[in-house]
Amino acid sequence: MPATIAVIHGPNLNMLGRREPSIYGHTTLAEIDAALSARADSAGLRLVSVQSNHEGVLIDFLQNEGWNAAGIIINPGALTHYGLALRDALAALSAPIIEVHLSNVYRREPFRHTSVVAPVATGQIAGLGWRGYLLALEWLIAELDASSP
Ligand code: DQA
Repeated sequence: MPATIAVIHGPNLNMLGRREPSIYGHTTLAEIDAALSARADSAGLRLVSVQSNHEGVLIDFLQNEGWNAAGIIINPGALTHYGLALRDALAALSAPIIEVHLSNVYRREPFRHTSVVAPVATGQIAGLGWRGYLLALEWLIAELDASSP
């Protein structure tokens, strides 16, 4: 069974491509997931992904897939800023967690400058658009490769 990378997309990210494209770009979530799957395939990894507008659905997914995953990539959407139950679900996991934001949240409204997820994440990528997800996956691939015997 290949190692699994779990990808979590939070609220409103299903609207990518149509939602405030000047901030979030024109790439759709399906296109992002397809690019991630193609890269994971080429690295011999299994990729599972979820998008939900409901925090509990994301937590259920993490409880089902996160414990066995070799790495987690998560864009929690606005839950980044207040989703304590999601944060706790992430804190329970031992795999590396990369927090991704399409936009540079630190250049935006003050409420976006706080992430309740960042303290339980391994690292964060913000402001690099859809390529941020690919860069997160690239880091996980390199890291998994380095830790394999
Ligand atoms: C976001 C930034 C969040 O502040 C916002 O609520 C989102 C998307 C990003 O990818 O830039 O939904 O996580």
